[in-house]
Amino acid sequence: MVEVKPSGKILGARVEELDLSKPLSAEHFALIVRTMATHGVVCFPDQHLAAAALKSFAARFGTLEVNVAGTFQEPDIPEVMILSNIVENGRPIGMADAGQDWHTDMSYSKTIAFANVLYGIHIPRRNGRVLGNTEFLNMVAAYDDLPDDIKSRLKDATATHDFNKFWEKMRREKGSARPPLTEEQRRKKPPVSQPIFLKHPISGRMVLYANPGYAVRIDGMPEHESDELLEFLFQHQLQPKYKYAHEWSENDVLMWDDLVTLHNAVADYGATEHRLIKRCQVMADRVFDPNYLSGALQ
Ligand code: SIN
Repeated sequence: MVEVKPSGKILGARVEELDLSKPLSAEHFALIVRTMATHGVVCFPDQHLAAAALKSFAARFGTLEVNVAGTFQEPDIPEVMILSNIVENGRPIGMADAGQDWHTDMSYSKTIAFANVLYGIHIPRRNGRVLGNTEFLNMVAAYDDLPDDIKSRLKDATATHDFNKFWEKMRREKGSARPPLTEEQRRKKPPVSQPIFLKHPISGRMVLYANPGYAVRIDGMPEHESDELLEFLFQHQLQPKYKYAHEWSENDVLMWDDLVTLHNAVADYGATEHRLIKRCQVMADRVFDPNYLSGALQ
């Protein structure tokens, strides 16, 4: 029987005994969406999914993004991106340094992300210790704790998010070998404005939806004031009290609600300690529809 086991921490739950390779019933679909809204991060252990099945599962929740970074995609399934440090015959098989700092996927997109769905195939270990955790921060808790004057000052404010901010930070500060974004990539993902606070469509809770990965400017505010306020929000949301870490096992499917969380892929493993993860990104193009949970939109 399908069972939800909360981690008892600030985020995280396991959903056991649900085979994601099989078509998902309306009941289990709603269970997953509610579990994500409540616990932010959901692990489905012991899954056995071909890339096409990963795509089919993820696509139940919204339209899938084809990532603008583009190069490392599953053959014939561009919605499935390969994240890996494995090199075969001198060629990397995946993107080696995706997500290695705090960010929210697709906050830089006109249509933001609802969820990420990752499937762990090779997980690095050293002396029995699991490496390459994915860490999360709870943005409902972070919003709740904000001082009232900040909540009212930024109530209807928006911030500009830019895909190039994270990309360039990886090149500048983390020694990433990724080349600069091309003109075409930049044209496909121009800077966009997003609300700083948003109401979660399923839980109704308010969320702090700015993140240090992509937010560059509070719109309509003098630059120095925007810089100060953004820095305050970043320091606030990065506090360890909001943090939860997922320690991977092979065959985990890890799904998280991008409206509730920030995440960071921990780069604590070396070139010969292999990590292979396949990823789909689900757009929030359906989750804001009031009929979403009823399954009417399947
Ligand atoms: C991501 O940012 O989606 C990558 C997370 C990970 O590889 O742990």
